[in-house]
Amino acid sequence: MRIIVSPNRKGPVIHPEIYGHFAEHLGRCVYEGLYVGENSDIPNINGMRTDVVQALKYLQIPVLRWPGGCFASEYHWQDGIGPRESRKTIVNNFWGGVAEDNSFGTHEFMELCRQLECKPYINMNVGSGTVQEMMDWVEYLTSDVQSPMTQLRGKNGRKEPWKVPYIGIGNENWGGGGTMRPEYYADEYRRYQTYVRGLGGNRPCRIACGAGAGVPDPGYGWTETLMKLAGPHMDGLSLHYYVISGDTWEDKGSATEFDEATYYKMLRRADYTDALLRGHEAIMDRYDPKGRIGLMFDEWGAWHAVEPGTQTGFLYQQNTMRDAQIAAITLNIFNRHSRRVRMANLAQLANVLQALLLTDGRQMIKTCTYHVFDLFRQHMGAEAVDIGTDNRYLESSEGLLPQISTSASVKDGKLHITLANAHARDEARISLRIDSASYAKASGRLLAGDIHAHNTFAAPDTVGLVPLEGICTKTEPLGTEVTFSLPPCSVAAVTFERQHATEHSK
Ligand code: AHR
Repeated sequence: MRIIVSPNRKGPVIHPEIYGHFAEHLGRCVYEGLYVGENSDIPNINGMRTDVVQALKYLQIPVLRWPGGCFASEYHWQDGIGPRESRKTIVNNFWGGVAEDNSFGTHEFMELCRQLECKPYINMNVGSGTVQEMMDWVEYLTSDVQSPMTQLRGKNGRKEPWKVPYIGIGNENWGGGGTMRPEYYADEYRRYQTYVRGLGGNRPCRIACGAGAGVPDPGYGWTETLMKLAGPHMDGLSLHYYVISGDTWEDKGSATEFDEATYYKMLRRADYTDALLRGHEAIMDRYDPKGRIGLMFDEWGAWHAVEPGTQTGFLYQQNTMRDAQIAAITLNIFNRHSRRVRMANLAQLANVLQALLLTDGRQMIKTCTYHVFDLFRQHMGAEAVDIGTDNRYLESSEGLLPQISTSASVKDGKLHITLANAHARDEARISLRIDSASYAKASGRLLAGDIHAHNTFAAPDTVGLVPLEGICTKTEPLGTEVTFSLPPCSVAAVTFERQHATEHSK
C-alpha cells in the first residue's frame, strides 16, 4: 500500500479536546469506576481511585463531560452538594432504576478534574430542570461575587470560583431530554443560553444539543434547524453517533463473540463517521462559513450487548481489537476533520460502553481502546498535515471499507502518523513517502491481535503496545522512503524526528 504524507502542507490544529471523555452516572462508571469514597479500602485520594487517575493522567485526557447523558436530564445539582450524609437519595430512572445517593456531586467532579488535570464540561438539565436552576449552578460554580450561591459554595468548602470552560445546554433533547421538536428546542436553547453568563472571568463555550445520527437518519434536519434558528447564539453544536453491533437497538450482538462479517460491518459503520461529518459540516458551513461554531462530537463509540450476567441498564461491555479498530478509524477521521470538529467525547470512561478502563473491586485493566488513545495522544494540539493512500477496499454487508485508515500531524519537530490495518487476516506492506527529506529517524509502536483478542482480569496484558519492528528509512534528496508491515487487525503509531541539516546531508 502506498501512502504519501506532506508535512509541509499543514492544515488546522487538532484540538486536544478531540481526545476528550465522558463520565455519566450510569452503571459502574462514576461509582466504583472513578469514585469509591474516602473510606474505601481501594486506594484513593479524596475518594478518587488512584489506579484509575494514574492511568488517565498518563493519557493526558483533556476534557471530561459530566453528569450525563440522559442522566443530566433528570439531575438536580443541589441534590449533590453539602454534607454527604444529608444528600438526597434518588432513583436513577434512566439507568437501571437503581438508588443514586448523590455522594458524587459538583465538588467531587471538580476534584476529579483537578486530579486528572483536565477541563470540566458540565451538561445542564434542560429536560426536567429550569432556567433558574441552571443559572444558579453556573453562579455557584463560577461567580466571584458575594451572593447566596457563592456563600453556599463557601459553606460547602470552596471559597474560590472554579473555571468551567464548557457548558452543554441539554442532552438529546429530541429524545430522552424532552422529546422536543428542533424548532422548540432551538427556542429553549436561546432562552437557556441567555443566562449562561460569563462570571468571574469564566467565558464558557455554550454547546447546543445536536443531532443523534444513525442509519437511516443522519440527523441533518436537526442540525439545519438549529443552525438556522439558534446558530448565532451558540459556540458549539453537538453530535452523537454510536456504532451499534446489531441491526436494531434491541438485537445488539456480543462484544466478544462475532464473526468476520459482523466485524467488517461494524468497522464500516465506524468509517461512516466520515460521511456523517461531511454532511453536518456542509450544513454548518452554509450558516457559519467562517467556522466559528465548533462541532462537538460529545458521544461516540461502540455499543454492544451487555456482558452476560450483568445488569442491562448498566451497559457494561468487553472491549476487543474490533473496538480498537473502531476507535482508530474514528480518531483518524476526527483528526482529518479538525477544521470543524473541536471536541469529541468517547462514551464512556470506565465500565460503560467502549470504556478505556474496566474495574472489578480493587482490580483495574486497560482495554484495547485505552491503548489506541495512547498511540494517538501525540496528535493533541499538533497541526494536521496532508496524507493520502491508494487504499485497497474490503467488502462488508454495508459497503466498502478502506483497509488502511490514517492521519498525520506535526508538532515540536516531530511527524506523527497513526495507521490501522482493518484486514482480519492479511498483513499490509506499507510503502510510505514523506515529501520532505528533513524527517528520518523513525520509531513506532504497535497494537495487534486477533479480532476477538481482549484483556481480562485474569489475563490483563493479553493485548498491549509493543515496538513496531522493521521500519526501514531511506533518505533521498527530495523526500524519505519508508517501508514497514502492519499485521492483520492492528493499530500503529510511527513518529519521525526532524533531522538537522548537517545530520541529514551525511
Ligand atoms: O452513553 C449512554 C447514553 O447514550 C447517554 O446517556 C445518552 O446521551 C445516549 O443515548
